[in-house]
Amino acid sequence: MASMSIAEALGGKNVQQALIAASGHEPFHLGPLPYAYDALEPVIDRETLKWHHDVHHRCYVDRLNEALASTSVRGRTLEEILSHVSAFPQAVRDHGGGHWNHTFFWSVMTDCKEDQEISPELLKAFEKSFGSLDAFKAEFVRVGSQHVGSGWLWLIKDGPERLHLATTLNHDNPLMDVCAVRGQPILVCDLWEHAYYLHFKAKREDFLRQFFALVNWTRVHKLLIGDYH
Ligand SMILES: [Fe+2]
Repeated sequence: MASMSIAEALGGKNVQQALIAASGHEPFHLGPLPYAYDALEPVIDRETLKWHHDVHHRCYVDRLNEALASTSVRGRTLEEILSHVSAFPQAVRDHGGGHWNHTFFWSVMTDCKEDQEISPELLKAFEKSFGSLDAFKAEFVRVGSQHVGSGWLWLIKDGPERLHLATTLNHDNPLMDVCAVRGQPILVCDLWEHAYYLHFKAKREDFLRQFFALVNWTRVHKLLIGDYH
């Protein structure tokens, strides 16, 4: 795709405003984890988290910057780029998604007990959209388990209290103009084997069941009410 098309794409349309500003501006950098490597044990062991962040995530950042170097894009946010990713080379879709998704994934987990409490507003949203919190959890595990291959499991806000679950392939995400799944994500789980294989082997379902113990529900609550920072 010619660089002029990218410039037109970014300059000629309004970028979605209500997106999570998670990843800074081009050129992109690997940020630190918001907790220690062993903070999420036993669900995510130290070795898995260190490799996942320091090797896999770093690779996506490096390859994203390499891919963008061949374009005319400078200083844009990743959210702006992903909103018009159809105008970019495939590598931007692959590695830009990899960078954004992992940055968001780190942010929705915590070892802080206070942030692992589910708010009344979230409970109400789960009851309205899924019937109950337990029904939401069961659906989360079912949808994530049945996804074939690598990808991501998203909880997406359709309205003030309307939520739904969806998966995307590879590193696609709901911010991308090429993605069939669109909307404001408020929770995500990494379905790639590198996220859980050392500890859970092929038992993705077990990983998904135990993932709830790590969720930063304070963060999810803020996203539900429109606080995207
Ligand atoms: Fe990953």
